[in-house]
Amino acid sequence: MKVIRSPQVLHKLLKGPLGRNQRIGFVPTMGALHLGHLSLIQQAKQENDLVVVSIFVNPAQFGPAEDLNKYPRPLKQDLRFCRLQKVDLVFLPQPKDMYPEGFATFVEVQKLSSLLCGANRPGHFRGVTTVVAKLLNIVGADTLYLGQKDAQQAVIIKRMVKDLDFPVQVKVLPTVRQKDGLALSSRNAYLNKGQALDAQVLYKALSLGRSLIEHGQRQSARIISRMKELISKKKQAVIDYVAVVDLEKLQPINKIDRDCLLCLAVKFGKTRLIDNLLVKI
Ligand code: PAJ
Repeated sequence: MKVIRSPQVLHKLLKGPLGRNQRIGFVPTMGALHLGHLSLIQQAKQENDLVVVSIFVNPAQFGPAEDLNKYPRPLKQDLRFCRLQKVDLVFLPQPKDMYPEGFATFVEVQKLSSLLCGANRPGHFRGVTTVVAKLLNIVGADTLYLGQKDAQQAVIIKRMVKDLDFPVQVKVLPTVRQKDGLALSSRNAYLNKGQALDAQVLYKALSLGRSLIEHGQRQSARIISRMKELISKKKQAVIDYVAVVDLEKLQPINKIDRDCLLCLAVKFGKTRLIDNLLVKI
C-alpha cells in the first residue's frame, strides 16, 4: 500500500504507469474509519483494479464553531485498516497542500446546499463540493463511492458531477448500522454512554415514520410530529430538523405520493447526528 501526501505526486502516479488502463475506484473520507467506510472500500475493491482512499479532515467544510480541531484523527489505526483491506493507495494531504496560499476558487451547488443540513451549516456543502471536485481531479477515478448515511451530500455531489461533467460514475451504498440501529459515524465517538443509548431513538423514529407510511399515512406533517414526539422523549435530544423530502430536489413533500426520504438531524449535547431512511411506496 502506498501512502502519498502530495496531490501532484498522486496525480502523476495515477496518470502514469500505475493508473494506466486500470479501473480506479475512489473512496473519499475524513478518517476515523469504521464499518461504514469499510463497506465502501470493499465494494470498490470488488469492482476496480485499483482502489484509492483519501483521508483528509477538510477544514473548508467545518463552520467556525464546529469540531474541526477535535475531529478524531487516529491515523495509525486508519492506515492499518486500509492495509488490511488491501487498499492500493492512501492519499493523505495536509490542508496547506489542498488549500495553498492564495486559494480562491470554490465549487457551489446552489439551492440543494442551503436545504436541510445546509440551513444550519452555512458553507458546509460548499466546502464538501470544493474538496470533492479537487479530489476527483487529482485521482481521476472511474467510480466514486459514497454512503447513503450522508444522503444530502450524495445528492449534492451527484448534481455537481452531472453539472460539471466529471467523467466519473457515482455509487451510493446503504447505511451501515450498529445492532441497535444507530448509524455508524466517526462522530459517535463523542457520545457518552447515556447519549449513545438515547441516540438509538433516531433509527426508532425513522422506522416509526416508515411504518406509518407503510400503513397508509400520507400526511408528512402527521409523520413528522409522531417522529418528533418520540425523539423528544429523550431529555438530551435537541431536534435540528425532521423532514420528509423528495429524492432528487430534497424539497419537502406534504402529501406522500412517491418515494421519499425521511431525514433528521438531532443534537445530543454538542454532538450533532444525522440519519435518514429511503421509503419506497
Ligand atoms: P466521512 O464522514 O469520513 O464519510 C466518508 C464516506 O463514508 C461518505 O461517503 C459517507 O457517506 C460514508 N459513510 C459514513 N458513515 C457511513 C455509514 N454508517 N454507512 C455507510 N456509509 C457511511 O463524508 C465525508 O467524510 C466528507 O464529507 C467527504 C465526502 C470525505 C468530503 O470531505
